[in-house]
Formats: sequence, C-alpha cells, structure tokens
Amino acid sequence: MSAQREKIPVAVLGATGAVGQTFVRLLDGHPWLTLVEVAASERTAGRRYADGVRWLGGGVPPFAADLPVLACDPAEVTARLVFSALDASVAREVEGAFAAAGKLVLSNARSYRMDPDVPLLIPEVNADHIALLERQRALRGWEGGIVTNANCAAIVIVMALAPLHAAFGVRKVFVTTMQAISGAGYPGVPSLDILGNVIPYIANEEEKIESETAKMLGSLDGDTVRPAPLVVSAQANRVPVEHGHTACLSVGLERKATPEEALRVLREWQGCVHDLALPSSPRPPLVVSDAPDRPQPRHDVHAGNGMAVVVGRVRKDPILDLRLVATGHNTIRGAAGASILNAEYLVARGLVRG
Ligand SMILES: NC(=O)c1ccc[n+]([C@@H]2O[C@H](COP(=O)([O-])OP(=O)(O)OC[C@H]3O[C@@H](n4cnc5c(N)ncnc54)[C@H](OP(=O)(O)O)[C@@H]3O)[C@@H](O)[C@H]2O)c1
Repeated sequence: MSAQREKIPVAVLGATGAVGQTFVRLLDGHPWLTLVEVAASERTAGRRYADGVRWLGGGVPPFAADLPVLACDPAEVTARLVFSALDASVAREVEGAFAAAGKLVLSNARSYRMDPDVPLLIPEVNADHIALLERQRALRGWEGGIVTNANCAAIVIVMALAPLHAAFGVRKVFVTTMQAISGAGYPGVPSLDILGNVIPYIANEEEKIESETAKMLGSLDGDTVRPAPLVVSAQANRVPVEHGHTACLSVGLERKATPEEALRVLREWQGCVHDLALPSSPRPPLVVSDAPDRPQPRHDVHAGNGMAVVVGRVRKDPILDLRLVATGHNTIRGAAGASILNAEYLVARGLVRG
C-alpha cells in the first residue's frame, strides 16, 4: 500500500476492555488505518471514551479521548473494517450481525475460531488460510466476513512451533503455560487469589490451545483447512505476571533434529509475509536467545514492539526430541497486535475496501 493513500477508517468493538485499550494504543498514528469509532456495552455507550474507559496505565491517547462510545450495533458503526475485542459471551451474535451487514470483522474472541469456514490467521504462519473467507461468504451469504486470531497462549506456542513443524514435522507437544493476569481482562482475577500464588486452571484454555494449534499449523486443501497431524497436551496456569505468556514446550518430531539444527531453523525463519513490509510485522518474528535464563516476560515481552515471540532454552528432551521456552505479549502479539497485523495483511492483499 502506498504511503500516499488515504488511511482506512476502522472501529473497535469492546474498546473499553484490556484488549480494546491495546487496540486504541496501537492504532494511534498507524500508517494505514485510522480509528474513527469505538463501541462497548450498553453500560458505557453514550459516554465520551475517556470517561467510559478505565484506562490501564498512562493516559487515554488524546486522539481517542473525545470519541463517543457507540453501541455494538452495525447500524451505528460506519467503518467497514471492524476490530472486535468483545467478551466471548456476546461476540458470536454481535460479530455475525456485523459480518452480515457487510463489515469485515477481525475478531479476538473464541466464538468463530474453530468454524471450518473461518480463517484462524497468523500471517507469518498460515497466510494462505485467508482463502477460507471466500467460502465463508458463499456459505453464509455475508458481504462482509470474519477473520479470527487465536487464543493468546496458542499464538505464542504456534509462532515457536511453526518453523520446527515446517522443517521437521511436529507430531507431539507437551506444553505448560504460565499466563499473565492481563490475559483475564479487566478486572480479571481477584488480587487476593493471584498475588504470591499460581492458579493451575484457566477455564477452557487447555482445550483452545490443543485445538487451535492443530488448525493454525494445518494445511489448506481446496477450500478447507486440514488440521496438522499432531497431538498437543496442554496445562495452563495463571501466574502473578502483568503482561506476557510463557510456554515451556517438549516437542516430538517426525524427522529427528538436534538442538543445533532446531536453533538454526528458528533463527532463519522469516515467516510467509516478510516481503510485504506490513507495518506491525516484527523483523524477525522470532527472537532466539542463547542466555541460559531467558526468555523472561519482564525482559522480553516488548521484543519487536510486543509483536515478536522470544524463544530460548532449546535443548534435548529425554522423553520426546526437543525442549524450548517461548514468551510473547498476550494483549499485543496474542490479541490486538495480532488482529492489526491480520488487517494489514488483508489490506496488502487488496481484500479491504476503505
Ligand atoms: N486479555 C487477553 O490477553 C486476550 C487475548 C486474546 C484474546 N482475548 C479475547 O478478547 C476479548 C476481550 O478480552 P479482554 O481481556 O479485553 O476482556 P475485558 O477486559 O473484559 O473487556 C470486554 C469488552 O467487551 C465489552 N462488552 C462486555 N459485554 C458486552 C455486551 N453485552 N455488549 C457489548 N460489549 C460488551 C466490554 O464493554 P464495557 O466496558 O462497556 O463492559 C469491554 O469493552 C475476549 O473475547 C477475550 O477472550 C483476550
């Protein structure tokens, strides 16, 4: 897209939540997109954005402060490109209504992710899955459409696995996650439950990691995605970290690889869209650390402006083949930044009309 072209107007649904606020922050000064509308629940609709949002850190960006908060109603929102950071309890109905009304919805919610005609997209990993959009429009009679990004932990895991899968064929994964508090939204987990504690349960998280990983690493076959032939065993934990999900992985491969071979593949990986110069695309998408004690969320969560995943501790596994650790920013790479990158990919492919 030429720098001279007019920016594309966009709206954010659920703009007052933890992910919605990250959208507003990341869209401030975006070179291709301009935020023109914000929407939230009936509780907040009608207020000025700066008055309706409980801003988490710093101040509300001035460009957004005076926007009126709209209801999540396609008749009220004029933008045709719509980011959704809606609570999953309402996302299916609301996002479907927007898609039926001709809007292209880029969703963070789980509601449509596993529908066979809905792309679950990480442009670096499975850009070709965007082909599902045509099938979706034909099947559902929608003029718009829905493109999703994955669960925040699943994105971090898949970014780390994608190069290994392409080179060696990932067949088995044991993964234990340590997930930040901001992953639960606002107000999220009560402070007395999480301070000085680890909670070995996040509702529905393990199932999402297991199923979404196979879909994202799957291959496009005609107008369908065949899940990758791998099995994932996930254990998800909430830990007292503000931002940044960490995943400890043990991986079984179809073709054996040494840690040195794996490190080379991880370091060389550029992903499928490196030639498109997408504004939010981290270069490189994976930062590989040799330090014995990295990645750590405190030090690594802002790599690539929060869009890179940091991988380290690549070593032999005595049960499977390899072990490694990956960390990524849950509300940026795992949510709002992922959606914005999806939008940039759609713009670059000429699939978005302003
Ligand atoms: N946090 C993460 O790291 C993360 C990562 C990946 C995906 N996600 C997904 O992204 C979505 C948002 O997560 P979050 O953490 O930002 O949640 P959150 O902080 O609880 O925010 C939820 C947003 O949804 C709006 N909302 C709630 N009920 C509504 C209704 N009935 N009608 C219209 N709007 C309504 C809220 O508006 P009000 O302020 O007006 O109530 C708020 O803007 C969820 O589906 C979540 O699973 C989150």
